[in-house]
Amino acid sequence: MQKRVTACLACIALSGCAGSGEGLDANGRPLEESEGGDVLTANLASIQTHVFTPMCTNCHSGAAAPLGLRLDEGVSYAMLVNAPSVEAPALLRVAPGDPDASYLIHKLEGTAQVGGRMPLNGPALPAETIAVIRQWIAEGAQAPSQDASSSVPSLTAVWPMQRMSSHEHIVVVADRELDATLLAAGTITLRKTDEAAERALVQGLDLPRIELRSQLPTVVAIAPPDGGWARGAYELRISGNAPLAVADLNSRAIDGDGDGIAGGDFVLTFKVEETR
Ligand code: HEC
Repeated sequence: MQKRVTACLACIALSGCAGSGEGLDANGRPLEESEGGDVLTANLASIQTHVFTPMCTNCHSGAAAPLGLRLDEGVSYAMLVNAPSVEAPALLRVAPGDPDASYLIHKLEGTAQVGGRMPLNGPALPAETIAVIRQWIAEGAQAPSQDASSSVPSLTAVWPMQRMSSHEHIVVVADRELDATLLAAGTITLRKTDEAAERALVQGLDLPRIELRSQLPTVVAIAPPDGGWARGAYELRISGNAPLAVADLNSRAIDGDGDGIAGGDFVLTFKVEETR
């Protein structure tokens, strides 16, 4: 019995190594060992390394990213997956499981009704590259895996960075799955800071304007009210303090203030400017 198992393992190992060394890097190591890999594969880390970072982020990054679409590393997932397109609001930029209905694919294939083919002003992506991005979407558009076992949960404001226009979403991504029931309990507040505090606008996840876009990791989007945000200065606050702090599934409170220790409110201030 022992002998047979050994023999089978050997034959698997041999067939894995046979041929041109496909799937191995220059040193013969499996490609997965280097982040993103040397060849494009159907996962977001690889697509980020081979497509988004080199071909898209010269335009799609920072506060001036067109249509609020940032594609830099660490935020591209939250900006794409289950996020409505600005140009075609009836479509999601990436609809997990459905590449044909994903506006990202329409923009890459040049079939979108609005605007240009991406990358704008550059050569179209090769069909094989688009096929790999389609496969990532068809397989559920997973986020890169994260190691959430040790550290405290943290949040990142993906949009806006400083300013936004009146019809944009506010998007915040966590580094792991958070307890959605806590998000629904009034721990997210938004107020206009250029008005008297008593007139503060407070919203909770049970109200329709706050959407849970993803849970692996948690992505929270806050939609504009009908007619858009009023101009002015705002403060978004996500509670990391007692009595009710947002926490992960292990009841670890968020490190809202970024000091490396659980606890502290997460605060994002920004201005709403022109109406688009
Ligand atoms: C030279 C600048 C530039 C580059 C490079 C670029 N884009 Fe764009 N992108 C734009 C602009 C400007 C718009 C809005 C106007 C339009 O659609 O033509 C846009 C719109 C988009 C939209 C529509 C967003 C929405 O919410 O409707 C998607 C998706 C997109 N780009 C993806 C990409 C991807 C993926 C790449 C890289 C492969 C890329 N872009 C490269 C400038 C660029």
